[in-house]
Amino acid sequence: MLVQMIYASRSSRVLGPADIKDILGASQRNNSRAGITGALCLHNGIFLQLLEGDRTAVNVLYHRLLKDSRHRDAAILDLAEIPFRRFGTWSMGLIASLESNRQLFLKYSASADFDPYGMSTATLRSFFDEVLQNVRWLE
Ligand SMILES: Cc1cc2nc3c(=O)[nH]c(=O)nc-3n(C[C@H](O)[C@H](O)[C@H](O)COP(=O)(O)O)c2cc1C
Repeated sequence: MLVQMIYASRSSRVLGPADIKDILGASQRNNSRAGITGALCLHNGIFLQLLEGDRTAVNVLYHRLLKDSRHRDAAILDLAEIPFRRFGTWSMGLIASLESNRQLFLKYSASADFDPYGMSTATLRSFFDEVLQNVRWLE
């Protein structure tokens, strides 16, 4: 069964480009093998990741992620059956905390800070809808 999971976590320390490269490298390598696609956002020290794929494969990955000391406070914000993949061409896309993306992060935040932990499911889904629509300038 095809599902999407959205979770948030906090980076446990300041992560440099080498850390991000390592995370994306492992993601792209493992996810294409496991049939997982999605997008990873990092803004103000908070990760927000959408994973889509087989329900069991997504659960297996989530349990592996929980053991990664580069982040903490992981919380599942949305888990839903989906009729089709929307990030099918992304084994894991990164939406970085660039100045040009700041508006996108803030558009869906109630406060001045990016706070996915406080977002409703509908807001989270709208956020990722917009990520998809803007894929050209976010990549
Ligand atoms: C925020 C965050 C997101 C991650 N996303 C993924 C992912 O989508 N897929 C993945 O395989 N590893 C991901 N990782 C890395 C895993 O925790 C783990 O380090 C990696 O899967 C180990 O792969 P390896 O055994 O091939 O080195 C992520 C790590 C962090 C901190």
